Amino acid sequence: VEEGVVLHEHGLAELHVHIEGTFEPELIFALAERNRIELPYRDLDDLRGRYEFGDLTSFLDLYYANMDVLRTAQDFADLARAYFARAAQAGITRAEFFFDPQAHTARGVELREVVDGLADAAAGARREYGIDAAMIASIVRDRPVAEANDTFTDLMKMQAPIIALGLDSAEVGYPPSLFEDVFARARAEGLRITAHAGEEGPPEYVRQALDLLGAERIDHGIRSLEDPELVARLVDEQIPLTACPLSNVRLRVVDTLADHPLRRMLEAGLSVSVNSDDPAYFGGYVDDTFSALREQLGLTDEERQVLADNSMRAAFL
Ligand code: ADE
Ligand code: ZN
Repeated sequence: VEEGVVLHEHGLAELHVHIEGTFEPELIFALAERNRIELPYRDLDDLRGRYEFGDLTSFLDLYYANMDVLRTAQDFADLARAYFARAAQAGITRAEFFFDPQAHTARGVELREVVDGLADAAAGARREYGIDAAMIASIVRDRPVAEANDTFTDLMKMQAPIIALGLDSAEVGYPPSLFEDVFARARAEGLRITAHAGEEGPPEYVRQALDLLGAERIDHGIRSLEDPELVARLVDEQIPLTACPLSNVRLRVVDTLADHPLRRMLEAGLSVSVNSDDPAYFGGYVDDTFSALREQLGLTDEERQVLADNSMRAAFL
């Protein structure tokens, strides 16, 4: 079957992609050279050989380590530009992408550099590809709560062009309840709210994200399926879940793609969409994900259209 841009009738939104997770090995090496930073890898193959993960934490260790070469606004703009070029190929018309401010400020990069570079690339995405791009600042939940609050203050002071606040990083042991205050502030500022919950963490974290943070969408949410009452609520309220099937396989949330509950989720009436999470690390972008789902889960064109329509309906437009 010939691959290429598949145009979805009403557009296709990517709602769950970490811009730092689109950092391809070649660009990591190029930016290391530009910034005269020595990487702890012999060569590209040495780096690529490390893309084997046992769980979320083992992935996050490499994901955060590779960010060390991102230093200037130019670096962040180059990172995001490369993603938009690839997203255009995947047929994406709306991209709501996460960035992790604390992952950069904690190692001495000015928040300004991060925000300016990403915002510049997002503006370019519209001009060059007609992609409607929007930024979501994400709280790094395994860092101090006070730092999350300070980061949010800084974002508001500089009038960062963000549409939403998110919550990501190592989940278990870092419940949404820790971050009630910063999310209340975000809601008061008129920002939209989303949160990673139920990826590795229990269904209770999904409930907390909804009830304590005011989350309008749940990122992953796959472990909600363990709790029928929660599923009934998610269906009833049509809370969008941003599923990331390739991520779930690579981080061993599910054994194989054939075991992925995506179809069960659709059949249950959940508002689920398909996303790439960290495509440079998990073996593919959204188009690759759809192809793999067709081959290994027997996903039909009709189901694919439902997923695309769900993505547009779940977008913060
Ligand atoms: N940050 C980047 N990717 C993530 C994921 N899959 N879960 C939590 N935090 C992340
Ligand atoms: Zn994610």
